Amino acid sequence: MSIDRQADNAIRFYESKSRDYDDTWHSDFTKRFISFLDIQPGQHVLDLACGTGLLSFLEAEAVGPGGQVVGIDVTPGMLAIAAHKKTHGSDKYSHVSFIKGDVIHLEETEELKGRLFDVITVASALVLFPDPKAAIEQWSTYLKPGGVIALDATHPRNLVSGIVLERVARRLDLPIPYNRSWSKSESSLKNVLESAGVEVEQVVTVNNQAGYGRRSYKMEQWDDFFVENVIVKDVAKTFANNEIRRKAQGVYKEEWEKLAIDGKVEEVDAVFLGIARKPADGSRYISKAVTDEVCFKGGCRCGGVQYTSSANPSDITVCHCRACQQISGSDYLPFIDVPIAAVKFTHSSTRKILKLSTFAERTFCSDCGAPISMAFANDPKHISLTTATVDLESLTSDTTPKVARHIFLREKAPWVVLSDDGAERWGTEEFAHLFNVT
Ligand SMILES: C[S@@+](CC[C@H](N)C(=O)[O-])C[C@H]1O[C@@H](n2cnc3c(N)ncnc32)[C@H](O)[C@@H]1O
Ligand SMILES: [Zn+2]
Ligand SMILES: [Zn+2]
Repeated sequence: MSIDRQADNAIRFYESKSRDYDDTWHSDFTKRFISFLDIQPGQHVLDLACGTGLLSFLEAEAVGPGGQVVGIDVTPGMLAIAAHKKTHGSDKYSHVSFIKGDVIHLEETEELKGRLFDVITVASALVLFPDPKAAIEQWSTYLKPGGVIALDATHPRNLVSGIVLERVARRLDLPIPYNRSWSKSESSLKNVLESAGVEVEQVVTVNNQAGYGRRSYKMEQWDDFFVENVIVKDVAKTFANNEIRRKAQGVYKEEWEKLAIDGKVEEVDAVFLGIARKPADGSRYISKAVTDEVCFKGGCRCGGVQYTSSANPSDITVCHCRACQQISGSDYLPFIDVPIAAVKFTHSSTRKILKLSTFAERTFCSDCGAPISMAFANDPKHISLTTATVDLESLTSDTTPKVARHIFLREKAPWVVLSDDGAERWGTEEFAHLFNVT
């Protein structure tokens, strides 16, 4: 089996963690993970990046002796613990097997040739892989028609020092052994699953993954995290020499400060858990965004501007920037996003362009004054529509968006008190990275 960099790094990192792994929050999280699944006796389950088998053994109990569970992982230490637990369970676990293999090259695992599964699970691992879409595409070839795949991805504020580290590495063009920057919201996980050809049944936010809920760090704590992540724990040798470390130090501080609001950097102990199904006819699922069916419609006060959308709205981004305040005459302006190809302006005689900056173009209705849309030069595939233009009656309870994030909070009107809506809070112009794009 060829071991590429990603697997190599994973082994280096997880080998040292294997021994104490079952004493971490993963034991509890895998129990919560399986509670979202409806695994039936007799089913065949494939547990990818199975680690010490925490989830595989729970699955073995759910499928019973008439079913089968196959766990695959690349780290010998993790697999040794899984094997030890299997032996100690004697007959109870005779229908579970563990195989050493690289889950992003499953074609190299001989034992899987020609096998199809009812359920595939990937717990606490998706963000370790450089290309989540390609990984899911490959995994779903091992699903029976109608089979289910379940996986989770981190909340953008989960282990906030990790997201800072990833941004630093990307800015300095250094390799980093995980890829979490795409995972921004429930909808980014939905999008990545759909783009990989599986139909999403649900995506939920699971809070309190490791048990601390939310906590915040002081601005000056950037230095502690820098030392821990860049100097002490750099297992992947991303920051290989002193010159790189020196450069990284300034960038780390900058990225840390960008995340701060009112002098504090918030950490949110949550993940998004997605459950998707391979279509029953075995075909690839095609997202609604590319069909002509109308998902919702909208328009301005006078009706001069009207549109339809063949994609559901994303969750809501509430912008508190000065420009949004001034053009709306209000304290903030909320938007939803949709793929631009999904939107048709059926009436647009009064739709006028307003350019307040070089990176974004807004439109508004010249008759009634309503702000309509905003489109970003760096994201030509999406358009943001003001939520007030959305015709609520054209939405169902499933598609009604909720507030996902507040942005530009540094410009927030002082009298606006944010409710405890669970939404993300972002201070600065970094919002451009945060839109629901994949
Ligand atoms: C955080 S652990 C999760 C283990 C288990 N799914 C659980 O929830 O307890 C991540 C696991 O991914 C494995 N892993 C990382 N990259 C891998 C790869 N390319 N192929 C197979 N396993 C991999 C690691 O060895 C590690 O056991
Ligand atoms: Zn109008
Ligand atoms: Zn704004």
